[in-house]
Amino acid sequence: MIGLGHYVPENVVTNDDLSKLIDTSDSWIQERTGIKERRWIDPKSDDTTSTMAVKASKIAIKKSGLNKNDIDFIIFATLSPDMYFPGGGVRVQDMLDLPTIGALDVRNQCSGFVYAMSVADQFIKTGMYKNILVIGSENHSGGLDKSTKGRGVTVIFGDGAGAAIVSRCEQKEKGILSSHLHSEGKHARELMLDGPSTGRWVPEIIANNDPNDQSYYPYMNGQFVFKNAVKRFIEVINEGLEANNLQISDIDLLIPHQANMRISQFVQRKFKLSDDKVYNNIMSYGNTTAASIIIALSEAWEQGKVKEDDLIILASFGAGFTWGSVMIRW
Ligand code: UT7
Repeated sequence: MIGLGHYVPENVVTNDDLSKLIDTSDSWIQERTGIKERRWIDPKSDDTTSTMAVKASKIAIKKSGLNKNDIDFIIFATLSPDMYFPGGGVRVQDMLDLPTIGALDVRNQCSGFVYAMSVADQFIKTGMYKNILVIGSENHSGGLDKSTKGRGVTVIFGDGAGAAIVSRCEQKEKGILSSHLHSEGKHARELMLDGPSTGRWVPEIIANNDPNDQSYYPYMNGQFVFKNAVKRFIEVINEGLEANNLQISDIDLLIPHQANMRISQFVQRKFKLSDDKVYNNIMSYGNTTAASIIIALSEAWEQGKVKEDDLIILASFGAGFTWGSVMIRW
């Protein structure tokens, strides 16, 4: 990875701000999730999933030292594209005024960035592409239920974007060492947004005119997701270590998907990692789904916490269920 960047909307929403809209409190949110505040797009701003992605991408490209025309492919991970179709990748190709390179959208929710990195790695290793722009961007705030009914979900999610330039590395022992991807679709309905979709078309929702219809807000079976998350995070980190004959003591930095601070802390305790070996920023941004790992990685890199030769592990778990890890020698 030769350049990273991130962008979050200016509008800060604190837990106290939320408690003015819904029956919740700063202490409940902090105790259960570790979140203090998140960024939500100000509807008056020009921020969208794609424009935030473009802002993050411009920083990543600049920091990579490449010319934007050196990019030969785009991979865009999001669950909140600007439009139902087409996806965000083509919007970025247009807004960055890139040549007619390919643009692929990844629909793997919280694991989106990990899946996207794995796809980029395969394209690079086969020799098909050299410099790939990999993006995670989410606009959750517009689609959350901001009444008390939605409080189990709404307080967690935030908006933001991150981008990485993944480039071919001549040294074999550096770069992405391996990636490990999993899914378990039987739990699809435990964390989902049901409609509008081809299972619940818009005319059907309108015809029902049901004031209690929650199907167009995200649903999460929180405790069930939590239990699965801690189990799968641990499994998939171990899988990455074993595949590379590494020990947990070899890790320089673990960047877990920022789902919930309590999940990250559970994983940290399980592996007996010191605080400086796990990067968390959920306190400031909430859970930004496909953007969370790349925003955290970009911040850690900016702060000098990612150094040459470091072993970095990215790990994720989310809707699907999907989970995965990426092992990187920086
Ligand atoms: O990123 C994708 C993967 N997502 C995750 O990994 C998230 C995993 N799950 C979680 O992080 C947690 O389950 C939550 C933070 C979502 C919820 O925490 P919890 O400890 O599992 O709470 P709960 O859903 O069991 O609810 C406990 C109580 C309930 O009240 P009663 O029934 O005990 O009276 C809820 O109604 O807390 C209530 N509650 C709230 N109270 C104040 C739920 N949300 C809120 C809220 N403020 N925002």
